[in-house]
Order: sequence, then C-alpha cells, then structure tokens
Amino acid sequence: MSHDLIIKGGRVVTGAEVVNCDIGIRAGRIATLGHDLGDATEVIDATGLIALPGGIDSHVHIAQPSGPGIEMADDFASATRSAACGGNTTVMPFCLPEDGATLRQAVNAYHAKANGQCHIDVSFHLIIKDTDSQTLGQDLPALFEAGYTSFKVFMTYAGLALSDREILDVMDVAKAHNAMVMVHAENEDAIEFLRDKAEEAGNTGPVNHARTRPVPAEREATHRAISLAEIAGVPLTIVHVSNGPALEEITRARRRGAKVFAETCPQYITLTADDLDRAGFEGAKYVCSPPPRDTAEQTAIWAGLEQGDFDLFSSDHCPFRFADTAGKDAPGARATFRNIPNGIPGVETRLPILFSEGVMKGRITLPRFAAITATNHARLYGLAPRKGAIAVGADADITLWDPTLTKPIRQADLHHGSDYTPWEGFNVTGWPVRTLLRGKTVAKEGEIVGAATGDYLSRSAPEFLL
Ligand code: URP
Ligand code: ZN
Ligand code: ZN
Ligand code: ZN
Repeated sequence: MSHDLIIKGGRVVTGAEVVNCDIGIRAGRIATLGHDLGDATEVIDATGLIALPGGIDSHVHIAQPSGPGIEMADDFASATRSAACGGNTTVMPFCLPEDGATLRQAVNAYHAKANGQCHIDVSFHLIIKDTDSQTLGQDLPALFEAGYTSFKVFMTYAGLALSDREILDVMDVAKAHNAMVMVHAENEDAIEFLRDKAEEAGNTGPVNHARTRPVPAEREATHRAISLAEIAGVPLTIVHVSNGPALEEITRARRRGAKVFAETCPQYITLTADDLDRAGFEGAKYVCSPPPRDTAEQTAIWAGLEQGDFDLFSSDHCPFRFADTAGKDAPGARATFRNIPNGIPGVETRLPILFSEGVMKGRITLPRFAAITATNHARLYGLAPRKGAIAVGADADITLWDPTLTKPIRQADLHHGSDYTPWEGFNVTGWPVRTLLRGKTVAKEGEIVGAATGDYLSRSAPEFLL
C-alpha cells in the first residue's frame, strides 16, 4: 500500500537509537520505518536533517487567570503558533479556576478558550487550589475518569498554596485513581518572612524576587513534598527544579525507592539571578519562580541532565508583556518586586536552547534529548504510546532539525504574544525547520502553515517509570 507521505534520507531518533531510514506515513500515523518504501503522494527530502519526535511541553501556562487587571500575553492561538514554530506538537497547560469557580467550571472555560484555536494538540492538567468536598470528593474523581489524569499543587503563592494536610488529602485522591501529582515546591512562610524583611529594608527592585526565594526555601519544600508523597503512598513529579540541593533531595529519595520524577527548564541552565539585577526595571523580564540561580547551580542542573536525574525538560512558559500595565509593569511593580507578575515566555525557545547547549555541545545524546523533551512527557502523563516517539503506530508528530543552522534568538523572529524574550541575542546552533502534526506540516522555517488543526487530547493513567 502506498503512503500519504514519506520523509526520506534523514537521521531518525527512535527510542534509544539513531538510524538512517525513511519514515512512511499513512492516515496521520507512522506506518513504516525502513528503506525503499515505495511511492507516496508527497515526499519530503530530509537529507542532512534529524527527525525527532515532536516536542511535548508538559508545563505551559496559557490564558491563565493571573489576578485583577493582569493578563497573560498568550491565548491558545498565539501560544500554539509559537510552540509549533519551536518544534512542538503537543502542549499541556494548566486549568486554574477563577476565584469562586469550581474545577469543573474551570475545565469547561479552558475548553471554550482552546476550541478551534490550536495549531498543535493540547491536553490539560488541573490546578487544585480548593480542597472542599465538592472538589476532592466529586469533581476530581470525575475529571480523572474523563481523562484529566494529573493535578498540580502549590506550596507557595498566596491564595494557591495548600497546607501539608491539604496536600495529603489531594494525594489521597490521586492514589485512589493512579493520577500524577505535580508539586511546585517552595516554602511560602519562609518566602513571606524574607519578603517582609527586604521591603522593610527598602530592598524593592526586581532582583529581590530572587533574593527572597533562596535555594533552602526550595530544598526544604522539595524534601517535604517528597515526604508527604511517601506518607500518602503516591508517586509525584517535582516541577521546575532550579538547583543542586533540591535535586539532591530527589536523587536521595529515588535511592530509597521513592517514585519521584524531576523536571527542569531552560531558565535554570542559561539565566542567573544577576539577570534580575539588570539596570532599571529590565530585571522584571526575568522574574519567575523558582528564580534563576547562579552558575554553580546551573552546573548542578547540567550534571543532573547528563546523569539522567531529570525525566522532563519543560518550558514553564508563562508569558507576560513587559511594556504593559497588565503585564510586568503592573500597578505597584516598580515600587516593589512583590507586585511583578511571575513567569517568562519560553515555549518556542525550549527545544532550540537544549539542542544547542545540550546536544551540540556533547552534554546529552539525541535519544536523551528525545526522552526528556517528548517521550517521557507522553509516558508520565498518559499520552503514550500514541504520542512522544517515532514508532510504528504512533501519531506522525515529527520535527525536522537542521543541526548546521546557527542564529541568535530574536524577539522579532518569535511568535508568542509577549513583547520580549529573556534570551534576546542568545546564540543557538541547531533549529527546527519543519514541524509535522499527524503527518501534516504545521510550521516550516519559522512560520505557521495552514489552519489551526490541533486536537484536544484526553489522557490515560500515567506510566510511573523508574
Ligand atoms: O514564575 C512562574 N513559574 N510562573 C508560572 C507559575 C508556576 O509556578 O509554574
Ligand atoms: Zn510552579
Ligand atoms: Zn509553571
Ligand atoms: Zn514568523
């Protein structure tokens, strides 16, 4: 039988191997891997290119409620446009209820926002900010059964942070359903103590965001989250790990047999707290939580990536505009760092940064790149085997990379709704040149191709690797 599309002559990253073969695609799925695949309606010449599974970014924030007067810079159209141009084929944003809304209402609201707008596939995690009996007893079990199989809880942020008891109650529901618990681990009381002290001393500029969220606040919360998960008897993922001591808590727990998964992000291998100390209000462009650390912590994160301690490399894309009073320049943000919205844009630059700094510099292999940018996201969040790998039967979600293309990251070339990138001028070797979603090109040479054909993905239970 002939194919709809054959991608010919590339180096193909399939699981643990890199092979020179052609990819035959039929009805949106990978039908054949091999040579002399016969004829096809369309042939893409991939000579000199690398074929990787389309990126899955399992940690993005899109059109998320962010407080009175504050607005995220991306809607689903712009976020998925940006993600596709950056080599991604699936993104997983979080459903956060508006104040007074139920989790179920939040899910419905996100579907309404995403429906018909997406250039790539999307699936939703849930954020648990209320632990009332309606949420834990009814909404959460029903939503789990409907394919929302992962929940995030926060140990920081006023209005979002849960107590230890509440986290245990959420974990208990996760346990009953085999759901994945994702934890944002920073000690809220310690941070509030340091923030009050900084403000009392008149230290109010953006860099104080980093200084009041120090490594021990993250390390302690990481240790506590893991302990709570061991007490509740559930696996968990610690998201956006920024430093060596927090990672050590995770590797130590793994050695005693705990199922703890770890995620890190581009900001923790490329940015530092000094970026928040840039002149004037520029530092606000780098305010995110946990904050970027220093070069010693970057080295520790790299060591973790090289040794396989990290399962996931995500962007934590959380975009705000810089020159905007609904964004970084929020009312009161110049008076104190406390009022600067947290988060940075990064969905389009995640893969190029890791490819350039990791693969091209010899720190990680291509199969490892594929695992932490796609395959593990699919497995840990219930999208495998349909997503995350170049394998027969899987969706033909494929990104073609040109490992010889060198150019700096420029805001002018990006497609997100933010008005800046934290990586302006950062040199990258190796760029995605074509992104295929279910066998159809959705981005080519940095531009979107065609209409918004992304689907919503319902998920199965996580595969707890290790
Ligand atoms: O600063 C950040 N990372 N904002 C996004 C929300 C979160 O904590 O992931
Ligand atoms: Zn977080
Ligand atoms: Zn986040
Ligand atoms: Zn463009």
